[in-house]
Amino acid sequence: MAGPLLGSKIFLVGFMGVGKTTLGRMLAARIGSSFVDMDDVIEDQEGASITEIFDRRGETYFREAERKTLAQLASGPDRAVIACGGGAFASAENRVVMDREGITIWLDQPFERIWGRRVELAAQRPLMRSESEVRRLYAERRFFYREAALEVTVGEDQWEKALEDVIGLLRQRGYEV
Ligand code: S3P
Repeated sequence: MAGPLLGSKIFLVGFMGVGKTTLGRMLAARIGSSFVDMDDVIEDQEGASITEIFDRRGETYFREAERKTLAQLASGPDRAVIACGGGAFASAENRVVMDREGITIWLDQPFERIWGRRVELAAQRPLMRSESEVRRLYAERRFFYREAALEVTVGEDQWEKALEDVIGLLRQRGYEV
């Protein structure tokens, strides 16, 4: 049944490796909406991987591509779950777009758990550098993520629990999910 926020988007934000894609797919399947991973759309549009975009064009170019992609996805007519790149929510302009077009959910996990997966994560994430740099970025980004409307902490491998938490919070906000 369609809710009052039929066309709204559900934006999953949070640090690299917290599971925005994993939980986003689960959430979309559960509520019968489409799922989009922003980084995948950027890669398709640019014809290059995120790592290649950073290497060849630099981070500033990537952030502009990210901004445009978010604006496109956010303005689509249908309800969708959108997994945002970890840096997208650090932009004030992007935060305004997300707040206008839907609801934002911060997915959180402790630094140590993310760092424990660094080898796997670094394969596709150019900003997964030294521990001190990633730790600094993790701390810095939390100031932005805190501005999300909802917040869910994922326990170790507790995906079903995290999904139920998200559904519960969305219902409290009037989403018929
Ligand atoms: C980034 C996070 C990545 C990707 C890019 C930059 C960031 O997305 O957009 O490597 O600045 O935190 P994920 O959060 O999906 O890993």
